[in-house]
Amino acid sequence: MNIKKVRKAVIPAAGLGTRFLPATKGMAKEMLPIVDKPTILYQVEEAVNAGIEEVIIIISKEKKAIIDFFAKDEEYERYLISKGHKDFADVIKNISELAKITYVYQDEQKGLGHAILCTKEAVGDEPFVVILGDDLIINKNGDNVSKQLIDAYYKMGTSILGVQEVDASLTYKYGIVKPGIIDGRYIEVIGMVEKPKDNPPSRYAALGRYLLTPDIFDKLKVTTYGAGGEIQLTDALTKLDKLWAYNFIGSRYDIGDKFGYVKAIIDFSLDRDDIKDLVYEHIKTKNKIY
Ligand code: UTP
Repeated sequence: MNIKKVRKAVIPAAGLGTRFLPATKGMAKEMLPIVDKPTILYQVEEAVNAGIEEVIIIISKEKKAIIDFFAKDEEYERYLISKGHKDFADVIKNISELAKITYVYQDEQKGLGHAILCTKEAVGDEPFVVILGDDLIINKNGDNVSKQLIDAYYKMGTSILGVQEVDASLTYKYGIVKPGIIDGRYIEVIGMVEKPKDNPPSRYAALGRYLLTPDIFDKLKVTTYGAGGEIQLTDALTKLDKLWAYNFIGSRYDIGDKFGYVKAIIDFSLDRDDIKDLVYEHIKTKNKIY
């Protein structure tokens, strides 16, 4: 097995965010805040905490706010300090120093597979972790999901699909695994179906995290338009010689979905010492009304 250190993460954030219109007209859904922190900051922190050295963010021309957000702005830091906000100045400085971030443009939104193919030069001949810009996954009591997938790659030496079992009524929304051998949290992938309308091969759904070996780029190059008229990463994954899925530990929030977004705000608020009591009391009053 030719196992290399995982040093790079790719965050696709060039999608149109149609499910979240009108907010996403002129604004990146990955910048939607969970209370006061944009979703994409959680993604970059996840990568850094998993030991990643370089983060490659895929954006479109409409998403320059993401570049501004991570850029150094000494003038603004000085302004905040002059107004007595040293604490905020430190927060902003720390964000700009969090990681080495590079940007790759996807000029046309031809799907997730096409977005990943745009990073071929930036990634090079190395394994990399993919963190979808609109999927927040939190594991409070252990390694984050990216670290779990990196460790699974070190064990298996193949691309790894991050999966969890979803309710049977929801399989139509995801790429679903056709399983071979199941060994604890490891599932051999012998096939995949993108968003099956009926007869899903299992309830193991791909949920926003992938560890990809660089041979995926050759498979993506020959992948044609699939489900939804997009170049699907799922279709390229099924062309790999060997693929394993890892049933990761963590709670997942789909920020690109209205209910997923609201759930994340409620749960994250209830975890914050500064506002949790207020939010809890507020929810209790609502409970009396409805
Ligand atoms: P989604 O399918 O959830 O994103 O893609 P979308 O296309 O923005 O969403 P809707 O369906 O229109 O509401 C998952 C991730 O892949 C990125 C998205 O930004 C998102 O983080 N993506 C998707 C790209 O970078 N490029 C694409 O062409 C498609």
